[in-house]
Amino acid sequence: MASKDPVIIFDTTLRDAEQTPGATLTVREKLEIAHQLAKLKVDVIEAGFPISSEEDFQAVSRIAKEVEGPVICALARALPKDIDRAAEALRDGRKVRLHTFIGTSPQHIAMLRKNADEVFQMAVASVARAKSFCEDVEFSPMDATRSDENFLFNVVDAAIKAGATTINIPDTVGYAVPLQFGNLIWRIVQWIKMNSKENHYHHSVVISVHCHDDLGLAASNTLAALKNGARQAECTLNGLGERAGNASLEEVVMALRTRQDFFGLSCGVDNLLLVPTSQMVSRLMGITVQPNKAIVGANAFAHSSGIHQDGVLKARTTFEIMRPEDVGWGTEGTRIVLTARSGRHAVQDRLAKLGYKLEKGSDELDRTYERFLMVADKKKEVYDEDLVAIVSDEIRDIPEKYHLEYLQVVSGTSTIPSATVRLRIDGSFQEIQESAWGDGPVNAAYRAIDKAAGVSAKLEEYAIRAITSGAEAMGEVTVSLSQNGHRATGRGASTDIIEASVKAYLDALNRLSFLEQNGGQVSTAWPNGNGQAEAPLAESSAAPAT
Ligand code: KIV
Ligand code: ZN
Repeated sequence: MASKDPVIIFDTTLRDAEQTPGATLTVREKLEIAHQLAKLKVDVIEAGFPISSEEDFQAVSRIAKEVEGPVICALARALPKDIDRAAEALRDGRKVRLHTFIGTSPQHIAMLRKNADEVFQMAVASVARAKSFCEDVEFSPMDATRSDENFLFNVVDAAIKAGATTINIPDTVGYAVPLQFGNLIWRIVQWIKMNSKENHYHHSVVISVHCHDDLGLAASNTLAALKNGARQAECTLNGLGERAGNASLEEVVMALRTRQDFFGLSCGVDNLLLVPTSQMVSRLMGITVQPNKAIVGANAFAHSSGIHQDGVLKARTTFEIMRPEDVGWGTEGTRIVLTARSGRHAVQDRLAKLGYKLEKGSDELDRTYERFLMVADKKKEVYDEDLVAIVSDEIRDIPEKYHLEYLQVVSGTSTIPSATVRLRIDGSFQEIQESAWGDGPVNAAYRAIDKAAGVSAKLEEYAIRAITSGAEAMGEVTVSLSQNGHRATGRGASTDIIEASVKAYLDALNRLSFLEQNGGQVSTAWPNGNGQAEAPLAESSAAPAT
């Protein structure tokens, strides 16, 4: 059998998906995700955009140093200061890539307040500068699918001559449709082959694609491009990313695998880790996965109609083209259940298998174990999902400005719901107690917290889900708050949903306060929207959302 051409899986969850409003990740959370991506065996991790904030710089630098396996990539606009900062962040990494980009469509050129010649020169100069730091250089003509084709081909040619080893064709605004996009990629691939034969190039070049999902076509466009000669797919877990998101990694990977007969391509991703990785990203970014999401949604393998259930029971392949266990959905028989009798070592060991390394004797392991015992007492059986919710609650590294000391809620069919909370603020000795009433117990608790903390954040989103089933199930609440132009998402888990709601609210408030103190820098929700206009012109350090 002919060997399958390998596809490079380039994960940009930590860069493009981290631009999702409210998806605030700390350096430590980014490292945790990066280690998990390495286990998942993606080929390249785009770890961040170092010029955008000190936190992003630190995250890229630590990931480049500490995460083994994949190539670690940093993003930079086509500006010397961006490229130098990205190179500095990558300095101590072993396998690194510098990715530089500039808009080439009429809309983006106009926004840059440049002409096409100037953009061309900036592209070439930035690739050459990146090459002086790093052998592995990727260049993206942003908004390629709305660019003039002659200009696009010429910029691509010049970038390769300047040393780019990967040319990424972004469908930045999700405008492409599969047939047309596949055809564009085919022509670029052929044209590069022709130019390279004529000895213009001194190295081989990989064609990559980066598709956004504004028309719901990101994965389809990516697959059409791969079928037509692209050999790198840029994607994110759960399809997260700017606006409607990016091509979803799990969909691209499983399409390549399930339809090898059609694509004839292979990739090295460990499909058994798709669901655990999706869940880790969802939990840390505070963005729930829609139940009907392909591969990783809770209903992706649920058969509810009688005919479907009957068919699947008789022969699985009647209604299933993939097996849930092949993408990492645990089957009841293989589930590990811990109980109040499980020791610290068993909990630590199970957490390590789930991707959370807690050091023996560390405060975090102690706190996690104490919480585990409390939950095990109430719930009797603690599943992996519960354990992950507990550990995510206990290992956050955002400073805890607002700490809950006491909560009492009164509610009932003929009472006005009311709540009393006591908070310790900034670790002071003095506790602040306030009471409030509300439409419901959660609303009353949130109003009491606002009074005690002296804040007036706007509740943008509130979501609750049961982590496992049964009357004693743990509930996980995700809350999104905005205040003074910042937005942050918090999470909380407990067997008591009011307590989970309060924890999530305080977590979001702590994140908001951290954002405000750091000038909004922990999040890459950059203030200038698509900010390209001021990007290369002003010496502002504010980087654009891409
Ligand atoms: O969407 C986009 O064009 C990008 C580039 C930086 C590749 O994210
Ligand atoms: Zn993008």
